[in-house]
Amino acid sequence: MPYYITTPIYYVNDKPHIGHAYTTIVADVIARWQRLKNEEVFFLTGTDEHGEKIEKAAFAAGTTPAVFVDSIVGKYTELWKILDISNDDFIRTTEERHIAVVKSFVKQLIKGGDIYKGEYEGWYCTPDETFFTKLQLVDGKCPECGRPVKRLKEESYFFRLSKYQGALLRFYENNAGFLAPEFRAREITNRVRNGLNDISITRKNVGWGIPFPGDESHTIYVWVDALLNYISALGWPDGIFARFWPANVHMVGKEINWFHSVIWPAMLFSAGIEPPKKVFAHGWWTVEGKKMSKSVGNAIDPKVIAERYGRDSLRYFMIREMPLGDDGDFSEKALAARINGELVDDLGNLVYRALTLAERFGGSISGTAELEKSLDLEGIMKCIEGLDLSGALEKVWSFIRASNRYINEKEAWKLSGEDFGNALYNLVEALRVISILIKPFMPGTSESIRKQLGIQAEGLDACRFKEFKGRIVKGPYLFEKVKA
Ligand code: MSP
Repeated sequence: MPYYITTPIYYVNDKPHIGHAYTTIVADVIARWQRLKNEEVFFLTGTDEHGEKIEKAAFAAGTTPAVFVDSIVGKYTELWKILDISNDDFIRTTEERHIAVVKSFVKQLIKGGDIYKGEYEGWYCTPDETFFTKLQLVDGKCPECGRPVKRLKEESYFFRLSKYQGALLRFYENNAGFLAPEFRAREITNRVRNGLNDISITRKNVGWGIPFPGDESHTIYVWVDALLNYISALGWPDGIFARFWPANVHMVGKEINWFHSVIWPAMLFSAGIEPPKKVFAHGWWTVEGKKMSKSVGNAIDPKVIAERYGRDSLRYFMIREMPLGDDGDFSEKALAARINGELVDDLGNLVYRALTLAERFGGSISGTAELEKSLDLEGIMKCIEGLDLSGALEKVWSFIRASNRYINEKEAWKLSGEDFGNALYNLVEALRVISILIKPFMPGTSESIRKQLGIQAEGLDACRFKEFKGRIVKGPYLFEKVKA
């Protein structure tokens, strides 16, 4: 079955921080896991380039939006290379292929009678590109980010979101996995039950956007424009749309769950398109206990961290430290603790010790599988299919620790002959399986172990102990101890 996974498309008003890196790493791990299962995968990320926020950032930088977005987008594509992200496509909302789809989709909504002209009166948070009613404000400020909002009173076209209340509630009920993680389902369902207002979907005074078909004095609201990236990248209604839609997962941060779990499926209902199978709203990183923000100046640059500690270490840390769906805290101290413990002492040490022993041995590395019983392969698979990525790593690490214990308990360094061959067989087979299981999380480290074992790349179906056919060439330590 083809597998389609997406990240949010990121605003190009500023360079990426670890929050953006996190979502993309999570999606990358899932995409790589599906490929290991031999599934055909389409993994999409990209950039959200229209709207008032970008327009303002461009003018503040003394340039035009078109020039400005081109100058930022490279920071994202560069970061994805640095982090070994395996996306199959990268969509920019300023691309013609996207603009054409947005226009024809909106025309379809107009034809279906779900759009009407009116006047919007209320509040707007430009950094979040979100409309709020007075009641929603907290102390007169944006309820999401706490920044000032501005009053808007302008002619606007509206989408009949209210019409889809019943359809949405029925859809949630019949598709239990759609709203994820589970505790978010209640939140969304309750809000939808409380009633839905029609939403403004055009802006009269924002020039940097896609013109609204039929009235070019308006541009399309940036969120309507942005959500459509998930189908424009597939070439809807043609291209590879039929092959990959509906998406298996939209991976998003919790603050944009409403757009993905309510507005997006309603837009799709209106156009007669099936909604995605799952919207997963993950939690937020704070930095040393504080919310990351430009004004505080505590945003962490993932490029700097990857260069200092290694990309695989950063990937490992982000997935292991913060269970998917929960919030978590980023600190270099916590990162260093995991590197020194789990990567150096557990994994790095196992590889080095096992291969040092193997190099000493001249005989045939064969025997009976003893160590395999410490591997909870089914548990690992279950964790990943349920998107408990941190739990999966925990289980892989308990196998790594069991393998280190095996060396000690057997006193493998004292063995000789067949007994030594048998212990080594168990160790190299454990390493082979570990190299497969960690591949989605740490592709470079996996590759390095595979090369040291002198074996071919294999898929998930090779995670059982079998005959060892490698030619061992021990390399240097995989990881080095770090100071935070
Ligand atoms: N452009 C919209 C998304 C449109 S999708 C159709 C947007 N862009 S954004 O640049 O602000 O990126 C938001 C996303 O970045 C979040 O949903 C989340 O995936 C990620 N994160 C931003 N800050 C984060 C943290 N502090 N922690 C974890 N992830 C965070 O919203």
